[in-house]
Amino acid sequence: MKTMNTVPLTQFETYPVIPVDLLSEIGQLLLNPATTTIAMQRLTEDLAALRDSRSTEDWRDYTRAFQEHPILKYLHEDAFTRRAFRKPRGYAGDAVLMDMVYGTGDGELVAKSSELGKRIYAFATTAPIFAATRDRVARLAKSIDEVCAENPNAHILSVACGHMREAALSEAVKQNRFGRLVGLDQDKRSLRVIERGHPNIERIAASISELMDSSVRPGQFDFIYSAGLYDYLDDEIGRRLLHSLAGIIKPGGRIFIANFLPNLSSIGYMEAAMDWWMVYRPVEQFHALAEHLPGLKSSRVITDPLQHLNYLDLQF
Ligand SMILES: C[S@@+](CC[C@H](N)C(=O)[O-])C[C@H]1O[C@@H](n2cnc3c(N)ncnc32)[C@H](O)[C@@H]1O
Repeated sequence: MKTMNTVPLTQFETYPVIPVDLLSEIGQLLLNPATTTIAMQRLTEDLAALRDSRSTEDWRDYTRAFQEHPILKYLHEDAFTRRAFRKPRGYAGDAVLMDMVYGTGDGELVAKSSELGKRIYAFATTAPIFAATRDRVARLAKSIDEVCAENPNAHILSVACGHMREAALSEAVKQNRFGRLVGLDQDKRSLRVIERGHPNIERIAASISELMDSSVRPGQFDFIYSAGLYDYLDDEIGRRLLHSLAGIIKPGGRIFIANFLPNLSSIGYMEAAMDWWMVYRPVEQFHALAEHLPGLKSSRVITDPLQHLNYLDLQF
């Protein structure tokens, strides 16, 4: 392993934001196994500060410059950062990438990474956004179990289900104690992963557009949830989709939707190094998506203890 001369850390204390040339020095810190974590911490913090201090347009310009910088080559030794950036399935947060967050799947992409890549990934897994996303999947499994405990014949729909990793965490799914469990996703490869692991889950290969224009009619449900989808939808589509879901929820049913909050510490790194741009909403904006929904009895937004994710919880 080649080790580079490290830059005194005091030097990093003196600037609030990262000029592109200083990134070369962070790059050197990255290469030294003893300082990779420090380099990643500084990079993440400084990119967050930079994002906060710039206009949206300036920040976009900066991320373009960042992505031309040789540091990107190092950061992309991490399979997680690289996959989000390259988007082999057309968007950053595909189900294979989500497996790297959950620690599920075969782990092959991480295992095949260089030592530097593994160190960067190890740092990424300590970020609160990882913990919040893992908490999300556990929360979904718990919700499935609660719904099925009350009604063992419950019909449940996961919209944009990905690999539906919550299924493996749910006792009701393991014991087949549900009426219907349906995963809808546009990605057929993800649905095949579900089929192999859980043949008792129905799969619908469709986009949310097909759900919204009713060319796909999955049935009526007691519980509909969606995680990792509203992070990509603007308010107009988000509202329209909720209206469509309200049309297929049974009276007494529940809709549960997750969305990240703005200004999280990892967003600067995600946008600059991973080219991963999501739609982050504060509580009020998220809650407003549910206004005027037909049949809605009550609505609330729950924020997770890590203050990373909001959950829109709707009772019909
Ligand atoms: C971030 S992943 C979330 C997967 C899973 N729900 C989870 O929590 O891990 C986003 C998923 O949304 C699906 N998706 C994105 N846009 C979609 C669309 N327009 N229609 C249907 N599925 C979509 C993707 O295929 C992907 O599986």
